[in-house]
Amino acid sequence: MAIATPTPASADLGVTGMGVMGSNLARNLARNGHKVAIHNRTSAKTEAVIAEHGSEGEFVPGETMDDFVASLSSPRVAIIMVQAGPATDAVIGELASRMDEGDIIVDCGNALFTDTRRREADLRARGIHFVGCGVSGGEEGALLGPSIMPGGSVESYKRLGPMLESISAHVDGEPCCTHVGADGAGHFVKMVHNGIEYADMQVIGEAYDLLRRALGLTPAEIADIFAEWNKGDLDSYLMEVSVEVLRQVDARTGKPLVDVIVDAAGQKGTGAWTTQTALDLSVPVTGIGEATFARGLSSSPIQRAGARGFEGHAEEWNIEDRDAFIEDVRQALYASKLVAYSQGFNLIQAAATEYGWDISLADMARIWRAGCIIRARFLGEVTRAYLTTPDLPLLIADKYFYDKVVEALPSWRRVVSLSALHGVPAPVFSSSLSYYDGVRSERLPAALIQGQRDYFGAHTYKRIDAEGSFHVLWGEDERVEVVS
Ligand code: 6PG
Repeated sequence: MAIATPTPASADLGVTGMGVMGSNLARNLARNGHKVAIHNRTSAKTEAVIAEHGSEGEFVPGETMDDFVASLSSPRVAIIMVQAGPATDAVIGELASRMDEGDIIVDCGNALFTDTRRREADLRARGIHFVGCGVSGGEEGALLGPSIMPGGSVESYKRLGPMLESISAHVDGEPCCTHVGADGAGHFVKMVHNGIEYADMQVIGEAYDLLRRALGLTPAEIADIFAEWNKGDLDSYLMEVSVEVLRQVDARTGKPLVDVIVDAAGQKGTGAWTTQTALDLSVPVTGIGEATFARGLSSSPIQRAGARGFEGHAEEWNIEDRDAFIEDVRQALYASKLVAYSQGFNLIQAAATEYGWDISLADMARIWRAGCIIRARFLGEVTRAYLTTPDLPLLIADKYFYDKVVEALPSWRRVVSLSALHGVPAPVFSSSLSYYDGVRSERLPAALIQGQRDYFGAHTYKRIDAEGSFHVLWGEDERVEVVS
């Protein structure tokens, strides 16, 4: 590649990492009128982008990191789109050593938010802004309009925000991009987005499995039911994707494709991160957790082989009213999905408190309405709920959603009971119902657990009728209660 040196610092921003996501982001930026510097560790990929897409806008190819950084106008903005982990640290190091105070490094990969916080603090100490930026929408979204979740400083957003907003998806003229909050807030929110994605995919999977096993429907028939559901409350991209997958016929065998795909779900880790973080913050995200564990179970050949042939003592299916059952499953799916989202938003709320982030939940729902994998019609209503009551204790306490859940309850209980009676696993349907019954219970068996803890570990307990901590002298004959 012929590159004039020294390169004039004329590019509005740059993207390093010309994998599909990186090149599509760069193309999206160029198509929207930004002059984009591009760079890759091996320059063949950079050359390929120019050869194939150079006419889509203004690109400045950089053969080396020196060329790339030199081509950026000041304050410089460099987007990194490489594999999360050590590769990101290496590229940050290369960029930072060539940058000046006030420049901005943006990591658009799926980084763990604690890594982002560490990197942000390190670079801030050197006067460089570091923005951990969630990008959702897959390859197509990156090219045509993703949902974008940037963290980092308010100051960096002033320079970066308008460019990102211009390439994001839009709903009614509003960009699906906003400043999420300081340091790792953007990557945190993207992580929770992915956790919710796991739960959403799993509840669709549970509905499919129940319809198939209970009614003996074919994948194509279930696709038709899902297509109907997709016209109402459940209207979402993931439902749309499921219809497409269930309708797909395998060219080799003529069978439904879903029947020839190995039933072992993969994962790159963001669902596990969400679950681990929720455990650290003591926030019950049962839907996301169960969805993550369900993927783990599916891809555990040793356990599945070890349990082959286990007795189920399950009843035979005999559904008399097919349409009523289908409606029950739809309601169970919707209610479980609402619980999973409600829990995900609670996790964001808890992290905002823990890390001092000023996150608007209404804005998060708003920027998820289009572009991202969990885009769905009902997110408009979620936006409305958090706009009306920003400190909603839980999403399902909003009247609109509460009414939906209450309406679903009889169906939901029937579906969870039937799945247990008939031996069909429905971990998110059933754990979401348990969560709902848990949060609405006046008294929980946690009182007994406190008693147990006090018995074997003198961990103390609180009383319902007096201030302070108490402990029973369990070892003594009288077992007197003392103030601890
Ligand atoms: C997105 C997706 C994207 C990717 C997930 C898949 O928002 O565009 O969430 O980030 O599809 O990383 O994750 P798993 O491989 O763990 O399912």
